[in-house]
Amino acid sequence: MEPTFDLFETMRTTRSMRRLKPDPVPEDLIARILEAGTCAASGGNSQNWRFLLIRDPTVKEAAAVWWRKAWSETAGPRYRAGGPPPGMDADKFGRLLDAVDHLAEHIHEAPVWIVPCWAGARGSGASIYPAVQNMLLAARALGLGATLTTVYLMHEKEAEAAMGIAEGFHSYAILPIGYPRGKFGPVRRAPLSEVVYDGAWGKPYAVP
Ligand SMILES: Cc1cc2nc3c(=O)[nH]c(=O)nc-3n(C[C@H](O)[C@H](O)[C@H](O)COP(=O)(O)O)c2cc1C
Repeated sequence: MEPTFDLFETMRTTRSMRRLKPDPVPEDLIARILEAGTCAASGGNSQNWRFLLIRDPTVKEAAAVWWRKAWSETAGPRYRAGGPPPGMDADKFGRLLDAVDHLAEHIHEAPVWIVPCWAGARGSGASIYPAVQNMLLAARALGLGATLTTVYLMHEKEAEAAMGIAEGFHSYAILPIGYPRGKFGPVRRAPLSEVVYDGAWGKPYAVP
C-alpha cells in the first residue's frame, strides 16, 4: 500500500484495517509509529504512558481469547441488533461487523500489537488517546493497517494479566498492526452540515 505524507489525505483515509497480513513489519517503521505516539500531548506533559509491544504469538493468543469472548458474546450481538451509524447503510454496516468478526478470529496473527498504557487509576483516556490517534495516523502514513480496539476491556483484568501489564498501569487499547489485505479508502462520516452548529445550538453550519 502506498504511503501518504499529506496530513489531510492521511486523516481522510485512516480507516480501521481489520484484515491484516501476518508478514513481519520492519522494526524501523514500528519505531516511527511509536515516536509519533510520544509526540502527542498528555495532561501537564506528564507522559505517564508506557507502550507495550507484543509480538509473542503465545501472549497474543492468550489475550485474544478475551477479545474474542467480549466480541462474540456481548458486543457483537449488541451491534448486530442495532441499526447502522450515520453515513452508513445496513449493507455497509453488515460488512463492518463481518470485518470485526474476522479480526476477532485473527487478531493474534497481526505481527505486532501496540498496547498503550497509562499509570494510575483508569480514567485517563484524555491523556493517552491523543497518542493512540497519532500512532494510527502514522501507521496509515507508512502504509500499515491498524485498528483502535477496546472491546477486550470487558474482560480487562484477565486480558491485562495475559499481556503482563504491570500493577499500577492500565491498558487503553490494543492496536493490532500489519500490512493491510485491503485498500485504505476514505472514512465514512456524516457531513459537517449535520454535526456542526454555527453560533447557536441547532443552527446548521453552511459549509463554504
Ligand atoms: C473508543 C473506540 C473503541 C473502539 N473499539 C473497537 C474494537 O474493540 N474493535 C474494533 O474492531 N473496532 C473498534 N473501534 C473502531 C471503530 O469501530 C471504527 O473506528 C469506526 O467504526 C469507524 O470506522 P473507521 O475507523 O474504519 O473509519 C473503536 C474505535 C474507538 C474510537
